[in-house]
Amino acid sequence: MASSILQALMWVVALSLCISSTECLTGDSIIDHSQSVDGGLCFNLIGPSGYTCLEHTAQTKDGFLLGLQRVSSGILNLGAQTGPPVLLLHGLFMAGDIWFMDSPNESLGFILADHGFDVWVGNIRGTKWSHAHESLSDGDKEFWDWSWEEMALYDLETMLSYINSKTGSKVFVVGHSQGTIMSLAAFTQPDIVRMVEAAALLSPISYLDHITSKLVLNLVHVYFDEALGLLGMHQLNLKSDILTNMIESVCDGHLDCSELLSPLTGENCCFNNSRVDVYLEYEPHPTSVKNLKHLFQMIRKGTFARYDYGSIKNLLQYGKLKPPTFDLSKIPESLPIWMAHGGNDALGDVIDVQHTLKELKSKPNVLFLEDYGHIDFLLSTRGYEDLYDNMINFFKSCEMSS
Ligand SMILES: *[C@@H]1O[C@H](CO)[C@@H](O)[C@H](O)[C@H]1NC(C)=O
Ligand SMILES: *[C@@H]1O[C@H](CO)[C@@H](O)[C@H](O)[C@H]1NC(C)=O
Repeated sequence: MASSILQALMWVVALSLCISSTECLTGDSIIDHSQSVDGGLCFNLIGPSGYTCLEHTAQTKDGFLLGLQRVSSGILNLGAQTGPPVLLLHGLFMAGDIWFMDSPNESLGFILADHGFDVWVGNIRGTKWSHAHESLSDGDKEFWDWSWEEMALYDLETMLSYINSKTGSKVFVVGHSQGTIMSLAAFTQPDIVRMVEAAALLSPISYLDHITSKLVLNLVHVYFDEALGLLGMHQLNLKSDILTNMIESVCDGHLDCSELLSPLTGENCCFNNSRVDVYLEYEPHPTSVKNLKHLFQMIRKGTFARYDYGSIKNLLQYGKLKPPTFDLSKIPESLPIWMAHGGNDALGDVIDVQHTLKELKSKPNVLFLEDYGHIDFLLSTRGYEDLYDNMINFFKSCEMSS
């Protein structure tokens, strides 16, 4: 175990030397999957499975052009009226593709469409499907000057307004991991939460100070986030040639890929190792170094707060020495919330989930799965039976009572 952590750390560090430096981005050394996979998420992944999929673009207040895909079941689409809108919010280093990785009866995006929902696929700024800005390009450091705070207050606000205006309905929100951080932060804002019908949070996170992920704790311990900043990096793009080669060599060699995943996410009960190649065609997506710093601040300080710039800059930015917190008790008690979390989840620890629950005014519907790790909530081979069936029943019960 120790050696696999070391190895994982080694590739992350080695890889970091390539992150966001311009020669990496312009040279031959990067495998740019966005060039080889033209035509968007609908064309490449969702459409070919027989679903109706349309590309939409929504612009945030700060100029990012977010790709949204609207998906419905091909069968249901013929004449049937559309069901309520559901927005899917992916996690860190992922994008909307993650909801469509496995067969239609295993992947949540397809399952929701088959159950008659009007599925909208969110893609956070900086990911491959939301990689444009009205005036900046990804070589500009300003392009990467954001964290999950902007994802919550700008991206989520924009996506909900857009869907709201297209459908005239409040939106069901599904988030995983970072998608739940941004949801919980955004739901404290009255002008955002008013557009939400109900929320389903997979591996819900607002506090992160009890994580047990050995790999992440090591990176926090060695101030990996600060090191990237000191090296002048702004973009965190793990999809480099170096990483691809390293993963390949690690996986083909003496190490099992699940051994690499476990130190990061916790032991996943239901992860299908033979599908790693498929997943790696899309994952991981880029994020910003500032986002990593903000996440690491949560781990170090145990707070659910805005970005910490240090006392002096905080004073200028917020008028206070410490960044304001997101107050979970401001989430309206009337917002129906469903949560699923796991006993083996090294990122969404049970103690942290309880902390979140204690601060909420409402009593969410909680599903606890003893043997689930962080990635099982997305890619479990038993996802429908264990999770999604339950989530859909919850949504249907909200629909009936609204
Ligand atoms: C899901 O579909 C695949 C084929 O697409 C099939 O082999 C598998 O048995 C199905 N699983 C379930 C749980 O229905
Ligand atoms: C695991 O993935 C392989 C390769 O795609 C597939 O053939 C197999 O059916 C999958 N197993 C389960 C349990 O889904």
